[in-house]
Amino acid sequence: METKRTRWYKDAVFYQIYPRSFCDSNGDGIGDLQGIISKLDYLKDLGINAVWLSPIYASPNDDNGYDISDYRQIMPEFGTLDDFKEMVSEMKKRDIKLVMDLVVNHTSDEHIWFQESKKGKDNPYRDYYIWKKGKGKDGRKVPNNWTSRFTGSAWEYDETTDEFYLHLYSKKQPDLNWENPKVRQEVIDICEYWFALGVDGFRCDVISCISKNQDFPDGKYNLVLRGDEHFTLGPRIHEFLNELYEKSWGLHDSMIVAEAIGCGYKDAPDLIGESRRELDTMITFELMEVDMFMNFLPMKFNLKKFKKVQRNWQELPADCWPTLYYENHDQPRSVSRYGNGEGIYKKQLAQMLAVSYMMLRGTPYVYQGQEIGMSNIKLKDEEYLDIASIQVFDLIKKYFRPIMPIARKIMAKRARDNARTPMQWTSEPNAGFTTGTPWMKINPNYADRNVEDQKKNPNSELNFYKKLIAFRKGNAVIRDGSFTEYFPNSKKIYCFERALKNKKYLVICNFKEESINVNVDLLGFKGAKLVMSNYAKQDEILGDAIRLGVYEAVIYEYSNTEN
Ligand code: GLC
Ligand code: CA
Repeated sequence: METKRTRWYKDAVFYQIYPRSFCDSNGDGIGDLQGIISKLDYLKDLGINAVWLSPIYASPNDDNGYDISDYRQIMPEFGTLDDFKEMVSEMKKRDIKLVMDLVVNHTSDEHIWFQESKKGKDNPYRDYYIWKKGKGKDGRKVPNNWTSRFTGSAWEYDETTDEFYLHLYSKKQPDLNWENPKVRQEVIDICEYWFALGVDGFRCDVISCISKNQDFPDGKYNLVLRGDEHFTLGPRIHEFLNELYEKSWGLHDSMIVAEAIGCGYKDAPDLIGESRRELDTMITFELMEVDMFMNFLPMKFNLKKFKKVQRNWQELPADCWPTLYYENHDQPRSVSRYGNGEGIYKKQLAQMLAVSYMMLRGTPYVYQGQEIGMSNIKLKDEEYLDIASIQVFDLIKKYFRPIMPIARKIMAKRARDNARTPMQWTSEPNAGFTTGTPWMKINPNYADRNVEDQKKNPNSELNFYKKLIAFRKGNAVIRDGSFTEYFPNSKKIYCFERALKNKKYLVICNFKEESINVNVDLLGFKGAKLVMSNYAKQDEILGDAIRLGVYEAVIYEYSNTEN
């Protein structure tokens, strides 16, 4: 019998854990599962009720676990399967759901499947991966012009069989061949294995890229990234997703969230519409692209464009459920990106940003450290540890050395390392993350930005997050209410209404580092009561106009009891 899918994620607030940087329990400088277990009370207290855990499987760590060498083992640095079971049971005790990362567009080149596949053209695992003959007389030219997302060609030559294999990420991350039904069955088996261990769902890494155009044509010209149009939402994507849904995902009370790289709101109905039986929700990059040029170069933040993206997602058909996020392990810190994260109003900024996305329709994610306003870090060249950063620097040093100073500035803003610095728990040495030497540099600002201090301060970022999450919980207006935006052209404020039956909220966020007056007389909220603010305001009643302080966020509630 089919399990009823309750769609619990509509009532969830997620916390994303990047295990390597979360909490180290044994002093080796690397976060681990026992470290996570030791912080579950903290998470419970914050009010979150679901965790997305970045990969913890066996991996040579070329891409910090996003290169898996055994899908059924825990990375020894993180612990054992017993630690994992203990973690699941401790989460269940606290009513915290667990969504694991499922990285199946590619494996590690150290996975036994690839080790076998490499051996020969008649090996039973040959077709688990995508092998092609090279071009040119000697067959040593790449099969097409597709690029790796980490710079350079997406093809790597392998001498043993004189063929190239495809890798959309690093050359240690060969792409699986989803055309092969055996590969799809392996993925189903992996999902079932973890469901049996108590997992509640999966965040599917770059899942929009699993179906490749089998003609492997050249991609249209682009200086940096080529080939996307031939594997983003490729020819068989919907068939593959539906197969996984019917044979695994849909048989459980699960949540399946896709990392839908390259997809936008227009693709949403086909991927996440409930009747499609493919995915439940998707993480898109549209919001992340607002302040980027060519998917990477930083551009000035434009609030108007930003709001437009959010609006498109808020206005999706009723059976499409949005994902709300500003941060994850691949993105710079939001306080450094959308405001002055080092200024004297950094606290108000972090709190305002929280209101600006958590009051929307969808499932919100808090990325570790976001709740205390962690910010970007300044690193020396050799302190960048992410494979993507290293490859970018190597490329520039090799071919464009004179622009290194510019590259450094860009990386300081964009590098994924910004999100990966260890969690700042206390003001003690190494921020209470480890008693040993941390695997990555800790942001020196931990002395004035850490969990312990913020717990004590009732007005801290942390306590504000807590209040806001509690406010959201069980609130039908926030979950199911309609969305109406006001002042869509303003480059200073984000103002919207959420309404359900006889209750409505007016949310106004000031994205500027200056005070501002807003006329609200025409919005139909006169007499509404202030229910939340990141300033010391209380019990205010809304009149015709409102003055907002630097990075101020307010929520007014209006009930029409006559209906
Ligand atoms: C996703 C992950 C990222 C990783 C890439 C390849 O984008 O979030 O961290 O490098 O996939 O697996
Ligand atoms: Ca450890």
